[in-house]
Amino acid sequence: MIEAERISCLERKLEQAQSQLTDLQLTVAALNRHWAKPAEPQDVHFLDVALHLQLGVRYAMGCAVPGDIAEFGTMAGRTAAVIAAAMPQYDRFCPSNRQSLHLFDSFQGLPAASSEVDRASPHVQAGVWGAGTCLGISEEQLREICSRHLAPERIRTYSGWFAETLPKVPTGTRFAMLHIDCDLYQSTKDVLDYCFSQGLVTPGAAVFFDDWNCNTARPDLGERRAWMEAVADFKIMASDCGEYGMGCHKFIVHSYLSRAGSL
Ligand SMILES: C[S@@+](CC[C@H](N)C(=O)[O-])C[C@H]1O[C@@H](n2cnc3c(N)ncnc32)[C@H](O)[C@@H]1O
Repeated sequence: MIEAERISCLERKLEQAQSQLTDLQLTVAALNRHWAKPAEPQDVHFLDVALHLQLGVRYAMGCAVPGDIAEFGTMAGRTAAVIAAAMPQYDRFCPSNRQSLHLFDSFQGLPAASSEVDRASPHVQAGVWGAGTCLGISEEQLREICSRHLAPERIRTYSGWFAETLPKVPTGTRFAMLHIDCDLYQSTKDVLDYCFSQGLVTPGAAVFFDDWNCNTARPDLGERRAWMEAVADFKIMASDCGEYGMGCHKFIVHSYLSRAGSL
């Protein structure tokens, strides 16, 4: 490559990195206006997760992937607030379609490990992922935090176990982005089985897994196993979009076989 081309390529990359940073700065500034404990620059993991969720929202809304955004596992509302703060920045890309944010949690912490797979997880065995752990804020507090950034009518919360609340998603809802942050294999499987069998995942949707490398990244446990099984069960074709944060992972879904047929 000749020197001028190389420099212009580097300039384009720099511009791109700057625009991503600016978007993230807007989100962090919005969050910090409300949080008692602001996100510190040294909170590298959180900022990295926030950046990738931000980019996910930008992709889903900016590239007009049809559908809303969903988070499974809201606990303290940290990542839900990032998504809520990012969404209004990209409304300009889809002015005729105001996406909603669907937030799912038991609001009672983790369920007891009900499957053999979860019982074999080192985190379950150590009691870190016991029943009632990871208990965060209430449904009302979550709504309050997210509505500081996003109009309340665009926020839907679902209180209860995923397997019971997913069927309450309004008919016709589709997801353009799913943030799965629920630690356990069975919880992840409940989400994936319902969303793919019912055709809730739009082709082009981004799927984020926060706990991908938990359980020492063993493929027979946790989110990795649930995804691998969903890929086989629903014949999912997806692009692996790589790691982010401390062991998180993301994909873009291209096609799959739902109960109603091929999507
Ligand atoms: C690691 S925390 C999520 C952290 C959160 N994203 C944040 O930023 O604070 C995991 C959450 O998943 C929820 N959860 C796990 N399995 C669930 C299930 N089957 N149904 C409903 N909620 C579940 C727990 O209640 C907990 O709040």
